[in-house]
Amino acid sequence: PALDSIKGIPDFEAVARRHMNVSDYSYYRTGAAGEFAYRRSLEIFDQVKLRPRTLVDVTNISLNTTIFGHEFSAPFFIAPAARAGLTHPRAELNLAEAAGAGNILYAPSLGSTKRIEEIAAVAAPGQVMFHQLYVSRNKTKFASDVKRIEAAGFKGIFVTVDNPIHGARTRESRYGWPSTTDSDPKFTWESYQELRNMTSLPVIPKGIQSVEDALLAVKCGAPGIYLSNHGARQLDTSQSPLEIAIEIYENAPEVFKETFVFADGGVRYGTDVLKLLALGVKAVGLGRPFMYSNLFGRQGVEHLIDILKEEIALDAANLGVAELKQLDTRWLNFGRLSAY
Ligand code: FNR
Repeated sequence: PALDSIKGIPDFEAVARRHMNVSDYSYYRTGAAGEFAYRRSLEIFDQVKLRPRTLVDVTNISLNTTIFGHEFSAPFFIAPAARAGLTHPRAELNLAEAAGAGNILYAPSLGSTKRIEEIAAVAAPGQVMFHQLYVSRNKTKFASDVKRIEAAGFKGIFVTVDNPIHGARTRESRYGWPSTTDSDPKFTWESYQELRNMTSLPVIPKGIQSVEDALLAVKCGAPGIYLSNHGARQLDTSQSPLEIAIEIYENAPEVFKETFVFADGGVRYGTDVLKLLALGVKAVGLGRPFMYSNLFGRQGVEHLIDILKEEIALDAANLGVAELKQLDTRWLNFGRLSAY
């Protein structure tokens, strides 16, 4: 299909389902077990309703967002996802270049098809990227991964903490995808502090799923936290990031002031992004949609970025919000969704 027939982010998945082979598609699409958490991560957004304000001057909407002192053009980013090579031979290079052209953040996965240094090499002048890190059992490899990320010029590390062991991924396992992981199941908050001492880069735990862990991260002085259930690929029936954000908002709202909060999971529309921002999240990631968009190569990735920027701008105007930082929970009605 022609790229200009893609009008909304879910359209990319429809194309992927038809055009990828079933094994590769299943790897991208899989959730854990019965995929209840996967489905809920999409559907839950509809349960939070928006409360627009009227008669507000919305002539100029700015989506500009600062992340750790770096300026970006939008509050969303490309979440780390492994094996971009399944859709395109240029794999992560397209994602990095499109993020540079659109001035959004990209954080490649340690499980990328391309090498860390190859991805860094296509960065535009001044382009800021973060990098994801898995905790390897092999401590020599682990230290070397950290050094390579730093040496290649990445500006932050998302260390994945929701993957002590591979999830029970029924869908992908039907096609023989490896079910083992190199992640160290002994990694603790103490190890997290040791990791921070190994690098000058900010290290952000990715996969925080409860108010307890959010508070522990703040107590450890984490410069940021990343609310995520790994795209519902790890533990079925775990909470969607929207629910995690509500849990934190209701029980320890200060977390959103004391540390920089990232989140991802099930984000497919401009309104999804705005709901997370209203709860106090500062930057919102998308995983699968960007992987599917790479079927069209770099242009496809850029098209997704344009669609989402456009939707956020239209939605913000209709909400009566000219500046995203004005958003707070007064724009939401999440009445029945009270968590925990
Ligand atoms: C992922 N995700 C992921 N996370 C991570 O920390 N390291 C990784 O290597 C991967 N790999 C990966 C591969 C694929 C194919 C997917 C779909 C996801 C999880 C990812 O960062 C993110 O949390 C979710 O994808 C967000 O959910 P959505 O946007 O896919 O619904």
